[in-house]
Amino acid sequence: MSRKRVAILISGRGSNMAALIAAAKAADYPAEIALVLSNVPGAGGLAAAAAEGIATATVDHKLYGRDREAFERAVQAELETHAIEIVCLAGFMRILTPWLVSRWQDRMINIHPALLPAYKGLDTHERALADGAARHGATVHFVVPEMDAGPIILQGEVPVLPGDTTETLGKRVLEVEHRIYPEALRMIATEYRLS
Ligand code: GAR
Repeated sequence: MSRKRVAILISGRGSNMAALIAAAKAADYPAEIALVLSNVPGAGGLAAAAAEGIATATVDHKLYGRDREAFERAVQAELETHAIEIVCLAGFMRILTPWLVSRWQDRMINIHPALLPAYKGLDTHERALADGAARHGATVHFVVPEMDAGPIILQGEVPVLPGDTTETLGKRVLEVEHRIYPEALRMIATEYRLS
């Protein structure tokens, strides 16, 4: 079985990254994590990935000022160096331009902590609570130039419980994220193997 070479792009602690790395250890998983890349030097997830023997790279967006495309060209160079076939955004807190997104059409996916199309953007748990939403959750979707849009691959739902805080609700959603992201990657990596 040829496993798809996957890069995970992170900006922080990388708990979704860890869930993907754990899933990819299974012999029958159709993808291998070949690179973890961060735009934040010293992001927690980088050390965790390196400890797993996974190649890591840092492309610090601050070095590129307002030139988003120059930053993205440096990211793309890393992806090419590592012969990446699928990109997973996992808490990667940069908006990508069409320059990079178009190069990865149907091969770049993202996890978002809400039931899209509800609550695009930041502070999703706060906004769900403020609205008195009865249900909340997480979405894995293909990345398109418009932020937090793009075809949905998988969603997981949780109830909003009386007395929930952003922390308790966020923790419940994060558990769902860790379940659906590996499953969504399995789905698209399998599809690409067949096509
Ligand atoms: C996750 O909850 C992810 O859904 C969210 O950031 C967190 C990263 O946590 N992503 C976004 O908000 C993207 N707009 P992690 O680093 O532990 O995976």
